[in-house]
Amino acid sequence: MTDDYTQKVPLGQTGLMVSRLGIGSSFGAPASVIEEAVEQGVNYLYWGSIRRPAFGRAMRNLARRKREEIVLTVQSYSRVPGLIGLSVESALLRTGLDHFDILLLGMRNEAPARAYIDAFLQLREQGKVRFLALSTHNRPLLPSLFDEYRDGKSAYDIFMLRYNAVHRGAERDAFPFVPADPRPGMIAYTATRWGDLLKAGKMPAGETPPSASDCYRFVLGQPAVDLVLCGPADRSQMQEALRALERGPLPPDEIERMRRIGDHIYGRHAPKFKEAGDAKDA
Ligand SMILES: NC(=O)c1ccc[n+]([C@@H]2O[C@H](COP(=O)([O-])OP(=O)(O)OC[C@H]3O[C@@H](n4cnc5c(N)ncnc54)[C@H](OP(=O)(O)O)[C@@H]3O)[C@@H](O)[C@H]2O)c1
Repeated sequence: MTDDYTQKVPLGQTGLMVSRLGIGSSFGAPASVIEEAVEQGVNYLYWGSIRRPAFGRAMRNLARRKREEIVLTVQSYSRVPGLIGLSVESALLRTGLDHFDILLLGMRNEAPARAYIDAFLQLREQGKVRFLALSTHNRPLLPSLFDEYRDGKSAYDIFMLRYNAVHRGAERDAFPFVPADPRPGMIAYTATRWGDLLKAGKMPAGETPPSASDCYRFVLGQPAVDLVLCGPADRSQMQEALRALERGPLPPDEIERMRRIGDHIYGRHAPKFKEAGDAKDA
């Protein structure tokens, strides 16, 4: 993996090349902010967990100009396999796109039943999606899914999981098990720990909070991670996130600082959502 974070990298075996930073739609940045970030080198856009209309407009505008250069993901949380097709159709209608590159099955804490894969295969046959991703809050599930991937038996090309300076459990129970060859695409979310890593009131005595870009750089310091998501609410947050790409890898002393701050927050400030795999005292 290159140390130049401005370079795009392959997303597993999909053939898609992605920027190291991706944008999630939940926090409400306007369409112009998303479009500007794409002009500045981001090419991964993820319509989830909340499908904000402005984000949909940005995807529509960008697709008109540069569909081949951008990677568009739509998420479905549906717990009814028969409704996934409708969820994707509705996303296509709202954006005017003819396909999404990736269908992400959101928050899957156990391996989805065969019917979900069949729903994806049907959509793929119709040309509406190309690849399947799975996001989990149950990291201990991942090694068995990675094994299937290694054995060529996985429907999933991409996996998405939580990782940040506070919650580093993936270093123990996910990253060591990511197959090297063939390698799946790996995406991380919650880099700022729901914003906690940016708050002065949550720092150890004498520490100033890291910047958001340092949170994304921390995550990209893991060789298993291809892409880190950011959730900008406005232009200044988007531009701050982009600084992660210009700045590149965090130096070792900064990584140590991030871990120290993470250790301080861990246990003192409860996570917004607990995950399977978290220590009991998390
Ligand atoms: N499928 C899943 O399982 C799953 C799980 C988690 C997240 N996601 C999605 O992943 C995407 C990314 O979310 P994330 O939580 O990983 O993103 P994130 O960038 O780590 O966090 C976004 C939060 O950080 C704050 N923030 C970001 N940049 C900031 C800055 N420069 N200065 C101050 N505060 C800043 C925002 O605060 P304010 O809003 O307070 O300004 C927001 O609360 C979203 O679309 C999210 O919905 C999906």
